[in-house]
Amino acid sequence: MYKILTLNNISPKGLDQFGHEHYEVASEMSQPDAIMVRSANMHDMEIPASLKAVGRAGAGVNNIPIDAMSECGVAVFNAPGANANAVKEMVLAGMLLAARNICQAWDYARHLEGDDAGVHKQVEAGKKQYAGFELPSRTLGVVGLGAIGVQVANAARALGMRVVGYDPHMTVNRAWQLDAAVEQAVSVDDLLSRCDMVTFHVPLNDYTRHLINSDRLHNMKRGSVVLNFARDAIVDEQAVLAALASGQLHAYVCDFPSNGLKGQDKVIALPHLGASTREAEENCAVMVGEQLRDYLENGNVRNS
Ligand code: MLT
Repeated sequence: MYKILTLNNISPKGLDQFGHEHYEVASEMSQPDAIMVRSANMHDMEIPASLKAVGRAGAGVNNIPIDAMSECGVAVFNAPGANANAVKEMVLAGMLLAARNICQAWDYARHLEGDDAGVHKQVEAGKKQYAGFELPSRTLGVVGLGAIGVQVANAARALGMRVVGYDPHMTVNRAWQLDAAVEQAVSVDDLLSRCDMVTFHVPLNDYTRHLINSDRLHNMKRGSVVLNFARDAIVDEQAVLAALASGQLHAYVCDFPSNGLKGQDKVIALPHLGASTREAEENCAVMVGEQLRDYLENGNVRNS
């Protein structure tokens, strides 16, 4: 009998495969053989002596103490690419929300007051105040060309945008997969100087922490848009707030609300929704579920 502890709500489809007599699955238990987790923080958790594997039902593993797990001989699996479509859709939505000032305009429109003539006058004013720009006239920079970055790049191309990509691990094959029309930047700074909007699809590590800081924001074109659906600390929030206040940035769209961003007019902050679709949750849970099962039953390591 293998014991699987779930630390977050995991899609039932992913748990189905454990639904036979050899498995016990529960959100509370002692001495689990494996843990399935989404974004719950495991850094302060005592690693049970019984633990053999952790399955992260998502891409990022920064909520898991990988080094400590390795020292204890615990294998860690994740689900790269399983939620790429969901995140891509959210990035596209974010680009459109920012380009057309939709959130600010919606907020303005739902607070209109007065009689019909008064409302009409305010509609005319809003039409002027919230006029936006179109995507085909702009260049998107994509930092990180893994499963999500590639999908975002190709979707932006389909919308008529020029796309510049950067990835330190970019191979010729990967560039071909991206499409020859996607230009490669030689560095993050090169990419930032060439784009009007930038989106990040990289893990959080020592190299990517505060990848966007005040120097880099100054190197961007005035009125640029930063999209962050990766991890909050990739962006230096204070630097972004200063750039928004000075007009250097037109908007900051992210998946990480914080006290500092609260009430900021040019910030669209969502509650970590990028991968929150039924389809993505199922894909991730099934992918890590299969890996955990294969590891526990056969000792196979497909991705750790
Ligand atoms: C990811 O890293 O893939 C996301 O954080 C997934 C999630 O929302 O759990």
